Amino acid sequence: MNIKIALVPGDGIGPEVVAQAVKAVDAVAAKFGHTVEYKKALVGACAIDACGNAYPEESHETCMASDAVLFGAVGDPKYDNDPTAKVRPEQGLLAIRKRLGLFANIRPVETFKSLADKSPLKTELVEGADFVCIRELTGGMYFGEKGRKDGGNTAYDTNIYTRAEVERILKLAFEFAGRRRKHLTVVDKANVLESSRLWREVAQGMEASYPDVKVDYMFVDNAAMKLVSGPKFFDVMVTENTFGDILTDEASCISGSMGLLASASVGEHTSLFEPIHGSYPQAAGKNIANPVAAILSAAMMFEYGFGLMAEGKAIRDAVAASIDECVVTEDLAGGGKAYSTSEVGDWIASRI
Ligand code: IPM
Ligand code: MG
Repeated sequence: MNIKIALVPGDGIGPEVVAQAVKAVDAVAAKFGHTVEYKKALVGACAIDACGNAYPEESHETCMASDAVLFGAVGDPKYDNDPTAKVRPEQGLLAIRKRLGLFANIRPVETFKSLADKSPLKTELVEGADFVCIRELTGGMYFGEKGRKDGGNTAYDTNIYTRAEVERILKLAFEFAGRRRKHLTVVDKANVLESSRLWREVAQGMEASYPDVKVDYMFVDNAAMKLVSGPKFFDVMVTENTFGDILTDEASCISGSMGLLASASVGEHTSLFEPIHGSYPQAAGKNIANPVAAILSAAMMFEYGFGLMAEGKAIRDAVAASIDECVVTEDLAGGGKAYSTSEVGDWIASRI
């Protein structure tokens, strides 16, 4: 197959980790006889620096014309402590999600046996945990009306969802659960929030169409607790945008490093694949960031983007081997040798 990939490295460690994902993609393409064309696009602080817009039109056109978007990270500390900044790198990420219609963000949480001792949780809680968080990505507070009033002294964000938005993400989640262990947990705050009551109402109405899926409803505060007290409870979790943002950072600790978790964002146009970690500016340019999340995002690209399961598995197997053989970056090295970002990337590519 001839694959056209939009490469969006972004800011901070984004370019370093995406470069390793490209090595893995090239290795898989060579092994399975695919040809890959890459086209770079700017999103985030680098795009603001280049043209004053975090998601330039040219980048959008490149993404729309590609089969998949391989994304790094966006963000730059120079914007974080300036609440008055009018343009922000994160606007680029939100814009790309919205304009590509990426309403579903799929974040699998897998654990690696040899890393169980790296988790802040007890080994017996972690071993065997294997679940998927499905986060709604283009609605809720992130995109609802926001503003200031009373001369700037009152601020508001609106957590707004339409029935259609809720239905399409729940449909995806029910189907996902049906292909896994058939257990869906709908996470909301229906005891307080009206938007959550709509989610719960819609989910309850859909239950009869998926008779083989066992559904339970959990308040988000309880889910936050359950993620660290008994993560093996979960199979597929589905939730709205803001709750999903928070819970997936929490969930990323379970496996031992945030640098391990990949994600796929799918919806109306080109799908996007990105590590769940951010731009980690403290590490930028040092060749120390963990590239595994970006490399596993490339595996998700083959699987979810193109239905090429063997190609995805070839990447996953090589990643698992690198971890088993302790070819890991400093976040996972413990007292052992820490490999650089590019060394880990080279090792995984050659293993493929
Ligand atoms: C994520 C990130 C983004 C989000 C930021 C960078 C805007 O935290 O992908 O989880 O909040 O969605
Ligand atoms: Mg986040």
